[in-house]
Amino acid sequence: MKQVPQYALCRDVARHVGEIVAQMRAHGRGLAAFLAESLPSVGGQIVFPPRYLAEAYAHVRAAGGVCIADEVQVGFGRLGAHFWGFETQGVVPDIVVLGKPIGNGFPLGAVVTTRAIADAFARGMEFFSTFGGNPVACAVGLAVLDVLADERLQERALRVGRHFLAGLRALEERHPLVGDVRGSGLFLGVELVRDRESREPAAEEASYVVNRLRERGILTGTDGPHENVLKIRPPLIVSERDADLFVSTLDDILGEDPVR
Ligand SMILES: Cc1ncc(COP(=O)(O)O)c(C=O)c1O
Repeated sequence: MKQVPQYALCRDVARHVGEIVAQMRAHGRGLAAFLAESLPSVGGQIVFPPRYLAEAYAHVRAAGGVCIADEVQVGFGRLGAHFWGFETQGVVPDIVVLGKPIGNGFPLGAVVTTRAIADAFARGMEFFSTFGGNPVACAVGLAVLDVLADERLQERALRVGRHFLAGLRALEERHPLVGDVRGSGLFLGVELVRDRESREPAAEEASYVVNRLRERGILTGTDGPHENVLKIRPPLIVSERDADLFVSTLDDILGEDPVR
């Protein structure tokens, strides 16, 4: 029987959030916040099962905690179907943290929150940031939003991402080393395993593959606790041709029987 992919095991994790919250309360501890990437990237390009965040948020809020969504990697249209990752889970966070793509290379980050939480920062110890509100950075952020809209980059991520995913899924059929292909838009992951039943992570093979890709002119990396997931998060301007080049090059490299 084909084992459930690693990421699907997250289904149980929302229940664990509830258990951890209950344990904290039993020990008389309060809960400040729950912070999660809307789709964990460094964790291995994981797509949460439907309603995972909705259930986790419900546990946290019931205990008085606020829910924080990290959209640094997945926000700004990369997912194609949605502009924000949390939308894929049908939740509205209390705080959203933004970075990287917000400035398209320019150093910029932002925190978006409710009026009530923002006001709370003005009541306690002074909160400030030396470079906060920098007008140049703000102009860059606004320009990035304009380019995203004018060049319809979210739509492009959806279209090219679907094509890319289909190409990668075809590799899964041909190469046993590919244990799972997942993602949304231009947020894609290829999990390499030594055995599809045991799902033993193929970390050394993944390292071989990314180095061979580099030698062939394609830069990518690995993520996940075992560094066995190829992370594919290209600029939103990539084309179907670029995706095809990646897929055919990866096909060649997987055919080299990556060494352990
Ligand atoms: C998911 C995620 N959140 C937060 C950060 C931190 O962002 P910054 O380096 O802008 O503080 C990173 C940086 O790699 C990230 O990948």
